[in-house]
Amino acid sequence: MIESSLPPLLSASQAQALLEARTVGLGHQTISLDLGLSVTDVILGPEGVGLPGGIWLPWSQVERVLANPQAVFRVTPEARVEKVQIFSQTLNRLYTLMPTSGAPTMLISGIPMHRIKGTDPMADTRAKVRAAAPKGRVLDTCTGLGYTAILAARRSREVITIELDPAVIELCRLNPWSQELFRAANITQRIGDSFDIIEEFENASFDRVIHDPPMFNLAGHLYSTAYYRQLYRVLKRGGRLFHYIGDLRSKSGRNVARSAARRLQEVGFRVVKRRPEAFGLVAFK
Ligand SMILES: C[S@@+](CC[C@H](N)C(=O)[O-])C[C@H]1O[C@@H](n2cnc3c(N)ncnc32)[C@H](O)[C@@H]1O
Repeated sequence: MIESSLPPLLSASQAQALLEARTVGLGHQTISLDLGLSVTDVILGPEGVGLPGGIWLPWSQVERVLANPQAVFRVTPEARVEKVQIFSQTLNRLYTLMPTSGAPTMLISGIPMHRIKGTDPMADTRAKVRAAAPKGRVLDTCTGLGYTAILAARRSREVITIELDPAVIELCRLNPWSQELFRAANITQRIGDSFDIIEEFENASFDRVIHDPPMFNLAGHLYSTAYYRQLYRVLKRGGRLFHYIGDLRSKSGRNVARSAARRLQEVGFRVVKRRPEAFGLVAFK
């Protein structure tokens, strides 16, 4: 496994592979215990699966994982499985790690945080980051699982990333695909409302801004003229903003994009372009 401090993680696809392998015969089996990042050798026994650390996970627990395809489970030292989820006291909502064919996404009270229909969270992130074309110093306004910050940091000098809810960062700690957020020396994390924190940054201090906010109806202030004025202020001349909106071909996406583009131009952005493949807008200072 890549991150040895994390407990073994299982989702329905690994559970299915283990149960199928058992029907073929007992013995050694290779499986991912970090949601597809690496593979590990495990032992299939008559009573359960032998995992690293001497844990024997009963087959009944593997069957429980298979029965919950929307969840990721961690294996406890007591050889039980527990859903990887955190209740946010701050915002009174439940965050659940959800497996996909690639990197997991996070369900916020049941709604996926990334696009997963016909794509996967990393492909979604690559499209956003391509549109943002990171370089120099980058502001990532909404950390989430940290995927935009991680990919941007691989292509720039420095990334500052802001997350409102500390519980989201707790979930990142349990997600193997978010670990670079804590390891990369050029990523700085901030906790708080982007709307307030952005005021602390100097004029013209970022080359790029990646703005990947919750939907308009959940965080209207992150789509406001006052906030856009701050985005414009902190960007350098020639700098670029990527603003995730949602599907620009849908009625609501079209409406939000149209009004966002108008306000971005009002605050000074000289060119605002639609980027339907990245579900957002790019704006140039
Ligand atoms: C769409 S997700 C961002 C996904 C992220 N870019 C990624 O790569 O995983 C939006 C995130 O913004 C956070 N958020 C919501 N309101 C915020 C605010 N006012 N300031 C900073 N973060 C906020 C949410 O908790 C959520 O984690």
